Amino acid sequence: MTKDIIKELEGAQTPLYYYDLPLLRETLSVAKSAADRFGYHIHYAIKANNNPRILREVSAKGFGADCVSGLEIERSIAEGFNPSDIVFAGVGKTDREILIGLENQIMSFNVESVQELEVIGELANKHQLKGRIALRINPNVDAKTHHYITTGLDENKFGIMKHELSKCIEIINANEYLELIGLHFHVGSQITDLNVFKSLCLKVNEWNEWFYERGHDVPVLNLGGGLGINYSEPDEEAIVNFSNFFYLFHEFLTVRSHQQIHFELGRSIIANCGTLVSRVLYIKEGIKKNFAILDAGMTELLRPALYQAYHKVELLSDKHTEESDTKEEVKYDVVGPICESSDCFGKDVLLPRLKRGDLIAVRSAGAYGEVMSSRYNLRQELEYFFKE
Ligand code: LLP
Repeated sequence: MTKDIIKELEGAQTPLYYYDLPLLRETLSVAKSAADRFGYHIHYAIKANNNPRILREVSAKGFGADCVSGLEIERSIAEGFNPSDIVFAGVGKTDREILIGLENQIMSFNVESVQELEVIGELANKHQLKGRIALRINPNVDAKTHHYITTGLDENKFGIMKHELSKCIEIINANEYLELIGLHFHVGSQITDLNVFKSLCLKVNEWNEWFYERGHDVPVLNLGGGLGINYSEPDEEAIVNFSNFFYLFHEFLTVRSHQQIHFELGRSIIANCGTLVSRVLYIKEGIKKNFAILDAGMTELLRPALYQAYHKVELLSDKHTEESDTKEEVKYDVVGPICESSDCFGKDVLLPRLKRGDLIAVRSAGAYGEVMSSRYNLRQELEYFFKE
C-alpha cells in the first residue's frame, strides 16, 4: 500500500475491505496465460469472493464461473459471466436453484448424488430443457489440509461414491433431457503440497478410463480448485505459481485429444488482493498479555476463529515513522470486539508499540473473507476501498 493510500484510509470509516484491483488484474492475466499454455480453462469459484466489483474484473478477463447456489448463478450472469461458462456444484441444490440453472442453460450441473440427478432429470423433462451433467466423483484423495476444508475422502459428504456411478449412467441414458458432458473432482482447499494434485491426476485417469470403457467418451474433465497460497509472506508470493500447478496436470493427466480440462480456482485468484483494514480501539496491558483490541473481529473475517487460520497482521499507520519509539516492538494478542474468546486474529503478534487509532492490516483476506462475514452482534455494514 502506498503512503497516499494509507493517508486516505486514515480518514476512512473502518473496518473496511481493501481490494487491490491492479493486483487482481495481474493475477488473472498470469493465471490465464499459464492455463492457456495447455489449453486449460478456469472457472473462478464465486464462493471465494462474490463482490460485484470483483466479479466484473474476473468476467472481463474471460473466466468462467463456478457457482454453488442459484443466487451465485444469477449474480454471475448479472456481472458479465456467460451462462454457457457456468458450472453449478453443491450437495444441496434446491428445485428452484436447479431450475435457475436449467433456464439459463448453464454449462453443467456438477451432480453430487443419485437422488439429485433424478430430480434434475425430472425437472429437465418437465420443462423440456436440457440438463448437462458432470458427475462429481469422490476420488478418496487426502488433500492434507485443514479437516474442515477436506472434501475428497470417503467420509466426506461430497461427490458420488464409486458404487453408485453405474446407476447414474443408467439414469442419464434413460432421459433424453440429460446429457453426460463431464467428470468433476475437487479434493479440498488451501492445498500447498502439489503431490496431492498428482494423486488426484492418477485417480482421474482411472475414472476417465472407466467411463470410456463403458462407452462414455466425456468431453470435459473438471479438476476443481484448491491451490493454496502462502499466508505467511503475502508480499513475496503475491501471485501464486500457476505455471507449476498447471504443468503438473499436463505431466500426470492422461487425456484424449478432444477432452477439455477445467479448473475451479478461488483462493489462489483473489486471496492476496484483499486486506481487512481495521483500527486499534484500545490497548489493554495485562499481567501476562497485552491486548490490541480492533474494531474488526470474527464477524468481518471468520477464518482465524473457525479454522485457526493464520493471517499476517501488520501496522499500517505511518504516523509511527515520525516518532522516536518506532523501533520498539511489543507482543500483542490482536483481538476483535465480539463476545467470543475465539475472536482473535493472532496471539503474541510482534508489532511496533500500538496506540489507539492506529490502522492495522489483516492480510490475504480477499478469499473467504467478506463472503463469510456476518452481522452477529448486530455489527455495522462493511465498508470498501478499491484501489483502481
Ligand atoms: N470447487 C469446489 C467444488 C469447491 O468446493 C471449492 C471450494 C472450490 C472449487 C474452490 O476452491 P479454492 O480454489 O478456493 O481452494 N472457507 C474455507 C474454504 C472453503 C472452500 C470450499 N470449496 C476457507 O476459508 O479456507
